[in-house]
Amino acid sequence: MSQSMLQQASNYAKKALQYDQARRYKEAINNYLNAATVLQKLITLEQSKEMRDLYYRKAREYLARATELKEIAKKPVSVDKTEGDESEDEIEAAIAETIIGEKPNIAWDDVAGLVVAKSALREAIILPMLRPDLFKGARKPWKGIMLFGPPGCGKTLIAKAVATEVDATFFNVSAAAIISKWLGESEKLVKELFDAAREKMPSLVFIDEVDSIATERSAGEHDALRRVKTQLMQAMDGVTSKAEDRIVVLGATNIPWDIDAAFRRRFEKRIYVPLPDLEARQAIFKIHTKGVEHAPEVNFEELAMLSEGYSGADIALICREAIMMPVRELDAAGALSDTSVQVRHVSKGDFTLAMEKIRPSVSPSELQRFDEWFAEFGAD
Ligand SMILES: Nc1ncnc2c1ncn2[C@@H]1O[C@H](COP(=O)(O)OP(=O)(O)OP(=O)(O)O)[C@@H](O)[C@H]1O
Ligand SMILES: [Mg+2]
Repeated sequence: MSQSMLQQASNYAKKALQYDQARRYKEAINNYLNAATVLQKLITLEQSKEMRDLYYRKAREYLARATELKEIAKKPVSVDKTEGDESEDEIEAAIAETIIGEKPNIAWDDVAGLVVAKSALREAIILPMLRPDLFKGARKPWKGIMLFGPPGCGKTLIAKAVATEVDATFFNVSAAAIISKWLGESEKLVKELFDAAREKMPSLVFIDEVDSIATERSAGEHDALRRVKTQLMQAMDGVTSKAEDRIVVLGATNIPWDIDAAFRRRFEKRIYVPLPDLEARQAIFKIHTKGVEHAPEVNFEELAMLSEGYSGADIALICREAIMMPVRELDAAGALSDTSVQVRHVSKGDFTLAMEKIRPSVSPSELQRFDEWFAEFGAD
């Protein structure tokens, strides 16, 4: 994976340079920031210190150039508006985009397993929003909740289910996007985001990939990044200190150990979203093959037993692969255009073949790291 990410970073950097030379600043800035974001991710994955240092230097270089270009890009004539207005408008538009107008339409039952996480979220978010009158005095609702766990196990999914369930304004924010698109102005964006949340209470601010902002502070880190961290902390403090504010911040991360201790403390509840257990895997197989006919010998319980160690996203992928096989066969036989030929039902063999192709994406050593972190810092 890191190989392809390196390729990705280098592609962004190459494009950035081309745009930079062509004086197409906006595109150049975006590409520099994208390159830096990918490099920052790579730093968390890279084993070798030498390579990490190299990525770090490069990322700083790109961020610095992007900031420089932002200054340069501001100078040319702007016709009617002053620059200030323009960026205000853009920020407003960006915040409006994060508000989910329509419910995501993910029901609680679409999320398999995760019994502990579901009941914790119910208690922390759904009940206080449903019955604010019960949460008075010392019985305070939680204001900061963090979901953590290996990739592809339903953190984002369960947040959407919460949004469907509660009657609150749901702000869906990707921290990675804030940093990469708004680096220079992300501080302001965070402030205005929380202002908007306060205006539209009750609100649920979901910050996905919160690690992109809330990582441990480091000595050489970019100024803008440091400022946005401070801003987010202040915003969260504001939410916690005002009992009458009905705003909940829900964060999600798959690298909880990179989260700054100060942020960790502000997420009072830290809920583990683990790999699916046997029962959940069985349900996930069913959810992701819904509406497609399978042969009677396909036994979901057996599939669930065979798929220990797979994440929900892995199983979803297995299902996609398996249910495609009959179609692929039909195509190979040249019979796809003949609508009188019936497609065969998905067989047990299709699933086992798919499972051989798709291996678990989370390694046992990673899992151990989550268990250890949960034992030390979990709070559900
Ligand atoms: N418990 C589950 N029940 C049903 N589907 C699941 C479950 N967990 C994962 N999936 C499937 O995997 C997909 C990816 O899950 P999701 O995006 O919620 O993962 P995540 O935990 O947010 O991962 P990441 O840390 O990479 O952001 C979902 O869209 C869904 O199709
Ligand atoms: Mg996610």
